[in-house]
Amino acid sequence: MNQIKKVVIPVAGKGTRLLPITKTIGKTLLPIIDTPVIQYLLEEAIKAGINEALIIIGPNQTDVIDYFNTESSYVKNLNRDYKEIRTIKKIKTKINISYAIQEEPCGLGDAILKAEDFANGNDFAVILGDDVVCSNGMKHYGISCLCELYKNNPCYYLGVEEVPFELTNKYGIVKATNYDKDYFPINGIIEKPSDNPPSNMACIGRYILKNSIFEYLKNTNMGYNNELQLTDGIALALEKEEVFASKVNGVCYDVGTKLGYIEATIAFAKTRDDLKEDFDKFLEVMANS
Ligand code: G1P
Repeated sequence: MNQIKKVVIPVAGKGTRLLPITKTIGKTLLPIIDTPVIQYLLEEAIKAGINEALIIIGPNQTDVIDYFNTESSYVKNLNRDYKEIRTIKKIKTKINISYAIQEEPCGLGDAILKAEDFANGNDFAVILGDDVVCSNGMKHYGISCLCELYKNNPCYYLGVEEVPFELTNKYGIVKATNYDKDYFPINGIIEKPSDNPPSNMACIGRYILKNSIFEYLKNTNMGYNNELQLTDGIALALEKEEVFASKVNGVCYDVGTKLGYIEATIAFAKTRDDLKEDFDKFLEVMANS
């Protein structure tokens, strides 16, 4: 059986849409309730059976490394064993976390190129740091849905969802002959089309990439925003290989924007047993105010 074991999580963006807080706190450490975004992403990967993660950080984002350091003086000086710290330790037993630095934010394609040694000839998953998927109780959600498809037919898979046509200029948009099925082969992809989008099926930051992506990216020209775009590398792959788009279970929130961040906080609060009662009352009060 073909099992994806590695995930690349690029988080090196400057997070300017969430300034001023991102001036000193990397956006991937911003909390949804009390848990940083990166922890939700790693938990999603673990649920998919992945056991190795490469987090691509910017040169000033060492706060992520500190967060996962469970031998720090903060932890050593705690007067008891907190379950929240045990959770971080448990994550580290399930997934081996390493880091690579992207010196300049030159696009997602450039970030992925930093993962060539880590991939070491294997196909791998990519989870984008801005997109958090709430499982809504589903066993397979987010990247896990793509890993399941890969098991039967190991090729490229892109997680997609329908977006309003007026928002297609914010996403990688796929082109296919038929969009009806849960997953379907694509015959085109374009990054942030300014007009005439081929569809309203948008990439949501969940990918399974074959190892061949590195060769395609090395032959890709700078694209949208004068950056090396993963989308353009995938467009090259499409000339020779099968690429599928697939809807994924769960609801995806763009936590790189203020509204998406608030929506994600509410969605995750609803799933938390320790908050449920109080939060339901709070929502009732809000609805009536
Ligand atoms: C990136 C990708 C884009 C994708 C989007 C999903 O864009 O380049 O293809 O649709 O993530 O969030 P970004 O949002 O980083 O500009």
